[in-house]
Amino acid sequence: MNTEIDFCGIKMKNPVTVASGTFGYGRGHSQFIDLSKLGAIITKGTSMRPKLGNKPPRICETNSGMLNAIGLENPGLDYFVENDLPFLKQFNTPIIVNCFGGAEGTIEAYVEICEALNNLEIDGVEINLSCPNVKAGCLAFGTTYEGVKEITSACRKVLTNKPLIVKLTPNVTDITLPAKGAEDAGADAISLINTITGMKIDIEKRKPVLGINTGGLSGPAIKPVAVRMVYQASHSVKIPVMGLRWNYDRRRCN
Ligand SMILES: Cc1cc2nc3c(=O)[nH]c(=O)nc-3n(C[C@H](O)[C@H](O)[C@H](O)COP(=O)(O)O)c2cc1C
Repeated sequence: MNTEIDFCGIKMKNPVTVASGTFGYGRGHSQFIDLSKLGAIITKGTSMRPKLGNKPPRICETNSGMLNAIGLENPGLDYFVENDLPFLKQFNTPIIVNCFGGAEGTIEAYVEICEALNNLEIDGVEINLSCPNVKAGCLAFGTTYEGVKEITSACRKVLTNKPLIVKLTPNVTDITLPAKGAEDAGADAISLINTITGMKIDIEKRKPVLGINTGGLSGPAIKPVAVRMVYQASHSVKIPVMGLRWNYDRRRCN
């Protein structure tokens, strides 16, 4: 069966990829799966300069998903280019780099990394406008029509020869507004959803479990929300929509 698709100009062998940050830069997972079988590899969120994460604990389980507050820790673009990009290139699978504006989280910082990515041998760029665990910046841009439009326009200007995918936060009342903001600013596609802000309390200690109190909830608990938002977003824009959601159903009920 021919499963090939063209996702906003990215030729994929099949429509299956990996959600940013759940797969690192692929090295660890390559021991268990053949990376050439994936439709595309989306890297861990990468910033221009190395970034430390949040104080621990940074992950905890909940009844039907997990909370993380990693804080977008990453080794920075130069390290990625030297160490991970050559490794990923050997699989003949499109590489989409997920990026964000580092600790600054400003529009200028997003533009800086997009400019650098524009000149790399990669197949697409996904900008993460939904980083609830980073103190500065991007969550503020990601939640409104105007904010998403402004930052997407700025990135679009410098990203002249790569598909631009805008990753949206679900922490909004109406997902169609940021979706439209991305489209109107010239994004080639949108992807959603990122994690939903949550919190767990240790009732014995009477304290939050995570080091920075709140984190992003992912996994089976948020899948119905993701499906609803992908449905709403895809009815409000004409550009392609990538659905990011936990992909295992015991009863196969989508
Ligand atoms: C540990 C962890 C790290 C993540 N890191 C990133 C990241 O660097 N950039 C990003 O855009 N999303 C990141 N995400 C969000 C995922 O890409 C995905 O959007 C989210 O987990 C929802 O999908 P899921 O419920 O299928 O996991 C991360 C998620 C987890 C669990």
